Amino acid sequence: MNILAFETSCDETAVAVVRDGRTVLSSCVASQIEMHTLYGGVVPEIASRRHVEAITPLTDEALRQAGLCKRDIDAVAVTYAPGLIGAVLVGVNFAKGAARALGVPLIPVHHVRGHIAANYISHPELKPPFLCLCVSGGTTAIVDVAGYTEMSVLGSTRDDAAGECFDKVARVLGIGYPGGGVLDKLSRGGDDSAYTLPIGQVQGNPLDLSFSGLKTAALNLIHNSGQKGDVLRLPDFAASFCRAVSESLVPRVISAAQQTRRQVVAVAGGVAANSRIRQDLEIACGQAGLRLYLPQRMLCGDNAAMIGCQGYYEWLAGKIARADLNAYATRDIAAG
Ligand code: KG4
Repeated sequence: MNILAFETSCDETAVAVVRDGRTVLSSCVASQIEMHTLYGGVVPEIASRRHVEAITPLTDEALRQAGLCKRDIDAVAVTYAPGLIGAVLVGVNFAKGAARALGVPLIPVHHVRGHIAANYISHPELKPPFLCLCVSGGTTAIVDVAGYTEMSVLGSTRDDAAGECFDKVARVLGIGYPGGGVLDKLSRGGDDSAYTLPIGQVQGNPLDLSFSGLKTAALNLIHNSGQKGDVLRLPDFAASFCRAVSESLVPRVISAAQQTRRQVVAVAGGVAANSRIRQDLEIACGQAGLRLYLPQRMLCGDNAAMIGCQGYYEWLAGKIARADLNAYATRDIAAG
């Protein structure tokens, strides 16, 4: 089954062709980062317009790279939620038109479910059940993946997503957008105990997280050092910051695995590329006797291969969109 997949939920236009959920025949990504860097963050209207410009040539390119023509496509999959609404709408409308024109089913895919599925591409042997730490620019959640399309959220951020926190701190430091990758690189060789930053705690569900306190503390530290004329040692600051994010996430993942008795842990989303988080998870999972799957770094960020992969499992579960499929800015992962 050849699925033509589309992803336009934020600042990457992506089109891919995936066979039987696991074999990526092509994966094309047109990043808009250069454009949004001028503004220090994603400008939603610019993102939508760039998707409109990029999606048709990128579709031709994805088919060309897959060595297929339009009549070889058996279904179309698309991210329909969550994301920047104008951006998601571009993909949904294009995919609807494509499915109509090709006379094939249209499969709606939840963006975060797609991120989880990136692990199936990196690790052909991985199958549910497992726990997945989903960490991206818009989501931070610990998800119990009981089946390919059966998921429940065990804990999630009460405020900012981890990626949002990375991006905001990097923006104030003036070191570029998106900030996660830059802070990650800077942190290598830095002293992670040079600056004391808080680890978010919340009342109620112990698996819930909070990043707004860390974000505020990091921003205050940057501003205060500027006001006092102190030089902020960037590698040390970046290492201390990455450590604080990791120490918020990793112990909760281990607790969630112990609570649910899951033996396998995976990670998903752009922040899953972070070296410190990957390293801490490897150590903690090793100590707890858990099998850890980390997606290839190139599959951590937004791409359409992950949407084609998850789309296959949604299709097997009978999820086909009706002609009135809409786009949604927010949507529960469990509802799909
Ligand atoms: O998954 P993604 O590409 O888009 C969303 O679905 O949100 O994630 C983007 C986020 C950005 O916040 C970016 O700063 C962060 O992932 N990110 C990282 C790293 N690479 C990307 N955060 C920490 N360390 C990294 N190496």
